[in-house]
Amino acid sequence: MRLPADEARAWIDAGMWHDALRDAPEDQLREITGDRTSPGGMLHGPAAAIRLGKDGEKRRDVLDAIRYHTIGSPEWGRTGRALYMADYLEPGRKFLHEDRLFLAAQVPHSFDEVFRQVVRFRLDWSVREGNHIFPETVALWNSLR
Ligand SMILES: [Fe+2]
Repeated sequence: MRLPADEARAWIDAGMWHDALRDAPEDQLREITGDRTSPGGMLHGPAAAIRLGKDGEKRRDVLDAIRYHTIGSPEWGRTGRALYMADYLEPGRKFLHEDRLFLAAQVPHSFDEVFRQVVRFRLDWSVREGNHIFPETVALWNSLR
């Protein structure tokens, strides 16, 4: 995609750190975030963003990519969108192998279209599973329609 070096660095760093606290104990994640109500699986992104911020990370796009990577955000620029797509399209996942391989190959020349498709897939899956849909996710989808 011939990204500027600082943007490429932001994408790599967001990818490297977004799940840094995924396996941390839930009480620790609640301690860091002060969040007593959200489902446990939603806490590791915000907790990692808070920790990185305390450690001196200043790049807003990197912090917001990590903070919202499980639910999405309508405020995202390309770093958040790239992380959200990479998280879904990474080859290690077992489902929809052909579809995801195809979409991943389209990202460099159809970035926004693939992002919209990934949001659609994830939202569709969440609805079918009967999951809670977060307001940020709804706002993200509405911003792409
Ligand atoms: Fe995650």
